[in-house]
Amino acid sequence: MQPHLKKAFTLLAIAIIGFIVVRSFIVPVSFGQYGWYRGDAIIDSMNFEIRHAGSATCGEENCHNSIYSIWIDSKHKTVNCETCHGPSEKHVNNVRIMPEPVNDTRDFCGMCHFKSAARPEEFPQIDPDTHGENLRCAYCHNPHKPWFV
Ligand code: HEC
Ligand code: HEC
Ligand code: HEC
Repeated sequence: MQPHLKKAFTLLAIAIIGFIVVRSFIVPVSFGQYGWYRGDAIIDSMNFEIRHAGSATCGEENCHNSIYSIWIDSKHKTVNCETCHGPSEKHVNNVRIMPEPVNDTRDFCGMCHFKSAARPEEFPQIDPDTHGENLRCAYCHNPHKPWFV
């Protein structure tokens, strides 16, 4: 074999072996346990604190059934209770711990409903300067069934 090829192959071999050695140090032990990801990531995820209870827990069979049954037939059925009321798992486990007070400002509803060129045209939007006389939205709309009180 030509000497310059020999050198090239030796360098290549060193590079490959180096790569394998370095990789074995860097890649976490549980990588590939279940698939192309870190197996321990599942345990990490399981250890996250549960913060949301889910709308069905709030009302389907539980305490807020009357609100739930109005909401589930309303235009807001895709907006979960905890989107407006905040994470409520603690409140579900212990009713003495109240969820965060609901944000009932115009700006909160406006996050989804103030007119914006970025929203699909058919999505219900209002001009905050002219709509609702600067009153709280819930003064006229029932947030659990916005169309209407
Ligand atoms: C779009 C936002 C929004 C959603 C979705 C929503 N709420 Fe509310 N909720 C509010 C606001 C705002 C108030 C305060 C109403 C007021 O000031 O008149 C409120 C008030 C309440 C209250 C206290 C007053 C009352 O009427 O008894 C309860 C309990 C409640 N919501 C439960 C729920 C439950 C359960 C769900 C899901 C089934 C839900 N909410 C979904 C915004 C929302
Ligand atoms: C997270 C986004 C979100 C928030 C926050 C939100 N909404 Fe909605 N709203 C929606 C969606 C989604 C619909 C259903 C739109 C559709 O049917 O195309 C809707 C529908 C409505 C409608 C019915 C419009 C129609 O033409 O039928 C009204 C009124 C309304 N919302 C008022 C409110 C008020 C008042 C608040 C605050 C208490 C609020 N929304 C907060 C997402 C939101
Ligand atoms: C003074 C009462 C009043 C207040 C306050 C009010 N609205 Fe309305 N809203 C109405 C009435 C009446 C309609 C139906 C007629 C119309 O479209 O103007 C309506 C319609 C809507 C619609 C449907 C628009 C469409 O074209 O489909 C949305 C969305 C809406 N309101 C959101 C809000 C939000 C968000 C707030 C707070 C920032 C709010 N409203 C405050 C009375 C009110």
